[in-house]
Amino acid sequence: MHRRRLALGLGFCLLAGTSLSVLWVYLENWLPVSYVPYYLPCPEIFNMKLHYKREKPLQPVVWSQYPQPKLLEHRWIVVPSSLEFGGADERPTQLLTLTPWLAPIVSEGTFNPELLQHIYQPLNLTIGVTVFAVGKYTHFIQSFLESAEEFFMRGYRVHYYIFTDNPAAVPGVPLGPHRLLSSIPIQGHSHWEETSMRRMETISQHIAKRAHREVDYLFCLDVDMVFRNPWGPETLGDLVAAIHPSYYAVPRQQFPYERRRVSTAFVADSEGDFYYGGAVFGGQVARVYEFTRGCHMAILADKANGIMAAWREESHLNRHFISNKPSKVLSPEYLWDDRKPQPPSLKLIRFSTLDKDISCLRS
Ligand SMILES: *[C@@H]1O[C@H](CO)[C@@H](O)[C@H](O)[C@H]1NC(C)=O
Repeated sequence: MHRRRLALGLGFCLLAGTSLSVLWVYLENWLPVSYVPYYLPCPEIFNMKLHYKREKPLQPVVWSQYPQPKLLEHRWIVVPSSLEFGGADERPTQLLTLTPWLAPIVSEGTFNPELLQHIYQPLNLTIGVTVFAVGKYTHFIQSFLESAEEFFMRGYRVHYYIFTDNPAAVPGVPLGPHRLLSSIPIQGHSHWEETSMRRMETISQHIAKRAHREVDYLFCLDVDMVFRNPWGPETLGDLVAAIHPSYYAVPRQQFPYERRRVSTAFVADSEGDFYYGGAVFGGQVARVYEFTRGCHMAILADKANGIMAAWREESHLNRHFISNKPSKVLSPEYLWDDRKPQPPSLKLIRFSTLDKDISCLRS
């Protein structure tokens, strides 16, 4: 009797132990725990290097498949409502570090530059940059290039593509090792708006013709800006957008989206995440190709209907980023405007518009 009870007890213990360990293994596989901190560069880049040859572009990820929260506010800076309405108490503002679709929002302190350097340097990446310098805008090339040589992707292969109607005006700025510059002649248009509307078309054609063979990532930047602090591999991602410096703390209803339904850039009141600036966007070269091509098609459709979107190319860019969510969002550190005072929430300014007289340049 005693022995039987002992045997039964032992058997029960064995059974309980086994089922516990099975349960543990199951739980471990099931729990959505990731030990990779979110600020690590998008893991897709490793897949690209391991599984794909350069000729085979990555399959595009359609972010619109993911549900979009309709009613949330996504301001980069969450201002306590008491401050917004003129309240006196000085509660700290809160910075958003992830978008609702879990793309990192990059700002100082959200990434580890040394870690990123270790990861990205061995990949031997080439980063392309497109800028447009037409008419009087050729004056800006020198300060753009000099500051880029000091701060932009230092230690990486960089290829600048300067689209200009006057290649002779491109200054001979000395470039560091593995850094190239190509001047690409384009036709100047009498009106700066026309030039601005042609940018998407020109970039997509340029990628198809040559840039897809020459670069891994491509940034499309405005030329009338300068780099003031390091801009490194933390900015690399499949599709990258930058929050517009005038709208990072503004409610979505006040975003200057195109609101006329007749335009292909139309954004409904219930839509929208952030208001992105047209002066900075980029990503993996195949994704930038799709993006610029999509924007160009939408611009053509509007043109056929005799419509010019509220903020022209920027309206289309914003419309496209709503349907194709960026995989990484750059905080206003990466797109600032020198005419604005630096708010305390912005630890540093990396890339900024020069204080200039726009009216004189555009006339
Ligand atoms: C790095 O890339 C460049 C151009 O893409 C290539 O010419 C060069 O051989 C590569 N270097 C190494 C060490 O793989």
